[in-house]
Amino acid sequence: MSKTGITLLGISGSPRLKSTHYAVNAALDYARERHEVETDYFSVHAKTVGFCTHCDYCIRKKKGCILDDAMGELHEKMLRADAWILGSPVYQGHVSGQLKTVLDRCRAVVARDPHAFRNKVGMGICIGGDRSGGQEPSLQSLIDFYIINQMIPVGGGSFGANLGAAIWSRDKGVEGVKADEEGSAAVHRVVDRLVDVARLLHT
Ligand SMILES: Cc1cc2nc3c(=O)[nH]c(=O)nc-3n(C[C@H](O)[C@H](O)[C@H](O)COP(=O)(O)O)c2cc1C
Repeated sequence: MSKTGITLLGISGSPRLKSTHYAVNAALDYARERHEVETDYFSVHAKTVGFCTHCDYCIRKKKGCILDDAMGELHEKMLRADAWILGSPVYQGHVSGQLKTVLDRCRAVVARDPHAFRNKVGMGICIGGDRSGGQEPSLQSLIDFYIINQMIPVGGGSFGANLGAAIWSRDKGVEGVKADEEGSAAVHRVVDRLVDVARLLHT
């Protein structure tokens, strides 16, 4: 157990173990070192996460999702954590289809218990190959998910991290993320706020 008693879950919505995987793990490393929290991680890389097909099994039965895939493991992690870091590459100006599928599949958890995610705290890290390639609309869609699911979204404040952490990878994977010093500074500021609010709500 961490000193603070807070557990942060990082989720990467990239099918690769490159920029997003690196950036989310760097955020978790920083959170552990700076704030002494416990961390957990999930990547969609090499996982099977099927589309929600709107079959409404979750609504009718209230026993979770009818699909038996990697979301079972992720749902458990989501429920255990006090705060989440959702990370996504920017695809066509928005979050990746993989991350969107993860978010859609959360309907099954909330169908079973409408307050399942209530007061968990959430932040976003969005990484584009272009400097202004859609990071902000992507961050906004993560904020919308948090609000819809009774969670508390946080940003890192004005001058650099308004809606969350936007990173410019220049399509250079891990090297691109490491080179974006503004992006890393933004991640730190949002993580600081995430832990601050999680402590207020969960300790
Ligand atoms: C299908 C696809 C669409 C993309 N669309 C955008 C885009 O709209 N804006 C942008 O800045 N980068 C775009 N990119 C580039 C990625 O966001 C960028 O390379 C990112 O760092 C990849 O993250 P990863 O290394 O974690 O996979 C796209 C990449 C792919 C594969």
